[in-house]
Amino acid sequence: MAILVTGAAGFIGSTLSEALLARGDEVVGVDNFNDYYDPARKRANVEPLLKTAGFSLAEGDFRDTAFLDHLFETHDIKRIAHLGAMGSVRYSVKNPAIYVDVNMVGTANLLERAHGVGVENFVFASTSSVYGQTDKIPFVETDSTDRPLAMYPASKKAGEVMGHAYHNMQGMNFTALRFFNVYGPKGRPDMMPWIVLESLLHDREITLFDNGEMRRDWTYVSDIVAGVVAAIDKPLGYEVINIGRGQPILMTEFLDLMEELTGRKPRIKAVPAPASEPKATFALVDKARSLLDYDPQTTVREGLSRFVDWYTREVGR
Ligand SMILES: NC(=O)c1ccc[n+]([C@@H]2O[C@H](COP(=O)([O-])OP(=O)(O)OC[C@H]3O[C@@H](n4cnc5c(N)ncnc54)[C@H](O)[C@@H]3O)[C@@H](O)[C@H]2O)c1
Repeated sequence: MAILVTGAAGFIGSTLSEALLARGDEVVGVDNFNDYYDPARKRANVEPLLKTAGFSLAEGDFRDTAFLDHLFETHDIKRIAHLGAMGSVRYSVKNPAIYVDVNMVGTANLLERAHGVGVENFVFASTSSVYGQTDKIPFVETDSTDRPLAMYPASKKAGEVMGHAYHNMQGMNFTALRFFNVYGPKGRPDMMPWIVLESLLHDREITLFDNGEMRRDWTYVSDIVAGVVAAIDKPLGYEVINIGRGQPILMTEFLDLMEELTGRKPRIKAVPAPASEPKATFALVDKARSLLDYDPQTTVREGLSRFVDWYTREVGR
């Protein structure tokens, strides 16, 4: 009886797989090792998993229905954490078609096969970006999400609502978790923490939107993973749940912390924020607390310090 983790070679998927294996679960990891960022990073993420009992890797693409049919025929998949995706707001502005293919068609492919074998629970990685541009903070799951700013959140919203269709028509247990600004060891090279750290270490200019007046609800990866594990373990019918920290900070504060941790002064290039960027992300996590006993532990200072340590050790200066 296995848990399927898609995107298992990615940042959050590999951290989740590690946590599931550590408690003795059998994990089937799917990833296509695409080159959106350096696939060598993804190979490094799965390397320790491949040495752990209970893990098997199915290298392939969930847009490929023959690959998926074979996967579901050859493994006894009972639960799914669907984390595989194209995951950047900004990249989706210039490359919308691949978001339709991977995040919408790929998710539909998985839902249909999940229904075919009668999985107990389907957990889907959604995003805080579905809330769009709003002055209403914190973000609550009942807020409107019908005005996405770009194709990335539009495609994630599509995943949430397709899940509802499978819940309604087929009785599938489906939980969409809206992750907020995830960071930590194995983090993505295209995301702010990585870009800021590299820029500081190499004395490169840092592009800062709206003079750093944007707020982001940075959430440490192990807190996110704790939320995903709890959701995998608890079929809830149909739910949409925020998984954030609930304590956003200004980008200027984020930069101050990074300066303190590295001892390097940032060189800032201030530019106006593009239309795809919300002014704030800010999770209300009461629903996660009550349904999943979710309780984020890691302060941004502590989490960034662990990220800097990991980067220095594993990636280099
Ligand atoms: N990192 C964040 O801050 C954040 C915030 C909100 C939501 N999310 C969501 O969480 C999930 C994981 O994000 P991440 O930060 O770990 O990203 P990531 O890019 O590191 O991981 C995604 C993985 O999916 C794989 N993948 C992509 N398309 C695939 C396909 N067609 N078939 C098989 N594998 C495929 C990629 O190779 C990659 O390893 C994504 O769904 C993302 O949208 C992330």
